Amino acid sequence: MQEELKKIEAEALSELQAVANSADLEELRIKYFGRKGRLSTVMRGMGKLSAAERPVIGKLANEVRGNLTTAFEEVGEKLARQERENQLAMEAIDITLPGRRPQLGVKHPITQTLERIQQIFRGMGFHVADGPEIEHEYYNFDALNTPADHPARDLQDTLYITDEVLLRTHTSPVQVRFMEKHAPPVRIIVPGKAYRHDYDVSHTPTFHQVEGLLVDYHVTFSELKGVLHSFARQMFGDQTDMRFRPHFFPFTEPSAEVDISCTVCSGSGCRTCSGSGWLEILGAGAVDPNVFEYANYNPDEVTGFAFGMGVERIASIRYGIPDIRALYENDLRFLRQF
Ligand code: PHE
Repeated sequence: MQEELKKIEAEALSELQAVANSADLEELRIKYFGRKGRLSTVMRGMGKLSAAERPVIGKLANEVRGNLTTAFEEVGEKLARQERENQLAMEAIDITLPGRRPQLGVKHPITQTLERIQQIFRGMGFHVADGPEIEHEYYNFDALNTPADHPARDLQDTLYITDEVLLRTHTSPVQVRFMEKHAPPVRIIVPGKAYRHDYDVSHTPTFHQVEGLLVDYHVTFSELKGVLHSFARQMFGDQTDMRFRPHFFPFTEPSAEVDISCTVCSGSGCRTCSGSGWLEILGAGAVDPNVFEYANYNPDEVTGFAFGMGVERIASIRYGIPDIRALYENDLRFLRQF
């Protein structure tokens, strides 16, 4: 029995050296210390020993059990430490990798231009108003003195939703909508989207306009000129010249198209202005008395002027963009320049 105990101790110690993880260690523990384990089995045999042998063997058995228990504990601690270290190494995050920079957006050039236009007109006492993009034929055309056979109503330009409902082709319908609800004097600008069946380097089917309307008791055409000249100089610089060319709009009389001196060549003539020295920026005129009638204003009492500008056009001049369709392609390399 003495030999048996020594053998168990030696075998257990050598097996312990080979244990690679705590699961194997637990298995080994059961093999020796378990209820049916080798050590327990030997201990149970002690009852058959003589009274002389029992204390000697008993002492040895206790020694062996003590040694093995200590050895198992040591190995157990070593394995637990190793396993913890392995886990930490495996789950470690490499914080030396450079992070991803959050991408900062910029305002779209159209938004920037719209904001600048509004800022300039607010400085001259205009208020911002708006109206629907889905519009009734009445406000888009009839009430703006545009008869049913006018070419502007042509299906080729106007995007109809039903026979009478359409996507507004300009922001001018808000003139009448606003006057219906407010008594004079009126001093508003209307930034917004408009829609036309049109697509080339200077036209997109959706585009932006800023409408202007000023109505009061003694408003003259020269005041229109003063307001627009001030706008042009604030928008494009103090040296900017401006000219009015006679034109026709159904809802203004007289009407004009307004040009500024070319921002590229300052008027001497270049490719941007097709050699003319001038760039068209907007349409304008004195409000036609018929429009006042539609809006229930008395044309014998009030006068006024209106203007409408294309924001894409203003932006393309401001930033030197040759093809305004680039504004809608959402190419970040293009948009980040502004
Ligand atoms: N609505 C006109 C257009 O879209 C512009 C305009 C507005 C002209 C107001 C005169 C007065 O072309």
